[in-house]
Amino acid sequence: MILYINACVRTESRTNRLAKALLNKFGDFEEVKLTDIDIKPLNEERLDYRTAQIEKQNYNDSIFELSKQFAEADLIVISAPYWDGQFPAVLKTYIENIYSIGIVTKYDEDGRPQGLCKAKKLYYVTTAGGEYNPRFSFDYIDYLVKNMFGIKETKLIYAEYLDIEGNDAEEILSKVISDILVFD
Ligand SMILES: Cc1cc2nc3c(=O)[nH]c(=O)nc-3n(C[C@H](O)[C@H](O)[C@H](O)COP(=O)(O)O)c2cc1C
Repeated sequence: MILYINACVRTESRTNRLAKALLNKFGDFEEVKLTDIDIKPLNEERLDYRTAQIEKQNYNDSIFELSKQFAEADLIVISAPYWDGQFPAVLKTYIENIYSIGIVTKYDEDGRPQGLCKAKKLYYVTTAGGEYNPRFSFDYIDYLVKNMFGIKETKLIYAEYLDIEGNDAEEILSKVISDILVFD
């Protein structure tokens, strides 16, 4: 199963357009549009509830649905615009919600994480108004999925300088889309 995690906020999102060009190459996918689903940052009540279910190994609880979907995907595409040097908060909220011990990762006897996710590859797609710096967005996702979730390969796809006066955003996007069509 190919999982598309759509963290784009705007209806006319250019980041979503890039991601869809990529997804078209792969065929059918399941989409999770983060702004359309009911996810909230973890508060004490939800955190305690989830911890209690993990302790009981009650992984059938609906609180684990998104975690299981993520762990079972064969290929994952995340799209998120470059916001405030990072990405929209809803993506961090999603990560908090899927990061369930026993589903996406487990800890070995030395306390080191052992990833449990099936996906061999994760794509991160973004667009930036100015210069794109991956430090707090792609680099963070790359660190997380490789070290905690066991996904061995990641790829960054981005278009930048889209909002610079005088730049032709459509032309920049077309160039990135034509690159997407040729690489594997
Ligand atoms: C809330 C917000 C924060 C943004 N922060 C940045 C930023 O830190 N750096 C930058 O280069 N562009 C920034 N931008 C511009 C977006 O990265 C750019 O317009 C992007 O292409 C939007 O993607 P979308 O078309 O998928 O919504 C920001 C835009 C918004 C709405």
